[in-house]
Amino acid sequence: MIVFATSDKGGTGRSVTSCNLGYRLCSKMGKNVAYLDFDFGSPTAGALFEIGGMERGISSGSGLHSYLLGKIDVATRVDVRGNTDRTDLRKLPGPTGKLVLLPGDLGGGEFDKKANDDIVERCARLLLELDQAFDVCLVDLSSGRSVAMDISLKATALPQLATRTVRWLVFHRWTRQHILAANGLVHGEHGLLECGVRVGHDRETLLDNLRYVRTAVPQLNMATGGSGPQAAWLHQQDAMLKHLASTKEVGASALLGETPVEPVLQYREQLILDIDVKKEIANRPTVVAFDLLAKRLIDEATWIRF
Ligand SMILES: Nc1ncnc2c1ncn2[C@@H]1O[C@H](COP(=O)(O)OP(=O)(O)OP(=O)(O)O)[C@@H](O)[C@H]1O
Ligand SMILES: [Mg+2]
Repeated sequence: MIVFATSDKGGTGRSVTSCNLGYRLCSKMGKNVAYLDFDFGSPTAGALFEIGGMERGISSGSGLHSYLLGKIDVATRVDVRGNTDRTDLRKLPGPTGKLVLLPGDLGGGEFDKKANDDIVERCARLLLELDQAFDVCLVDLSSGRSVAMDISLKATALPQLATRTVRWLVFHRWTRQHILAANGLVHGEHGLLECGVRVGHDRETLLDNLRYVRTAVPQLNMATGGSGPQAAWLHQQDAMLKHLASTKEVGASALLGETPVEPVLQYREQLILDIDVKKEIANRPTVVAFDLLAKRLIDEATWIRF
């Protein structure tokens, strides 16, 4: 399964949630996961996995930028557990699935305005190969109507990928502006549906394979003690957001799931390990939310649209 992670805005929690989702798929469900850093302007996935020297991309010109530009034939693959500086992750007991990072190039930068045919062809070749080798390929795209989105839509419209399972996750924060932005990215002008249809996708199929992820959603009762004017106001706002989300087609029926506000992630972009919960550093509901996202992602029932 190929899963594109996108968002209209930056800083939505797309990368942190995707890497934790990938980690849970691999550590809890035994899935082999490839994580592709397609955030070409800011390829910082190495930092999330705490791979020393790779925090802003791989330096040897052997990353995804070089591969897609045709400078090399094979993009570097990094085994996360074998290369992370995170001791608890390195010494994780028991067999788990593989978690492999394909980093971008250090200083690689965004591609030119349009995705040319060579880049698209190379992207399709890579996705096909990885999809055959891994259970889940998570592709973290640059935010907005990016060249990364354009390349991905064009590549997955090619006949060689037509029979593969391709999903789209649209990340957004639980605010008015983010709900409107997520709707715009999918349904708006030059949005995912419009661009997808232009390059040969079927609109309904794209929608069937698209779900939203709400990140860092405040837990109202915990935040306010559940009573008083502030609690009443927050509940009212939350109800308004739910209404807005459903009118903007970002509502419950199109939702993959949500993550709660996690103090650890407010301070640091990282994987949350079970040991972080055991040590009472991270909150249990956060890993429960990541596990639920992982479960729902691979459950076929999630992808039936009514
Ligand atoms: N559940 C959460 N609770 C609190 N903070 C969170 C949560 N999820 C993500 N964050 C934090 O929000 C910030 C933005 O997250 P992240 O970098 O994953 O977003 P992004 O959409 O990938 O951004 P960019 O567009 O810059 O790549 C980070 O500091 C991250 O740790
Ligand atoms: Mg990111």
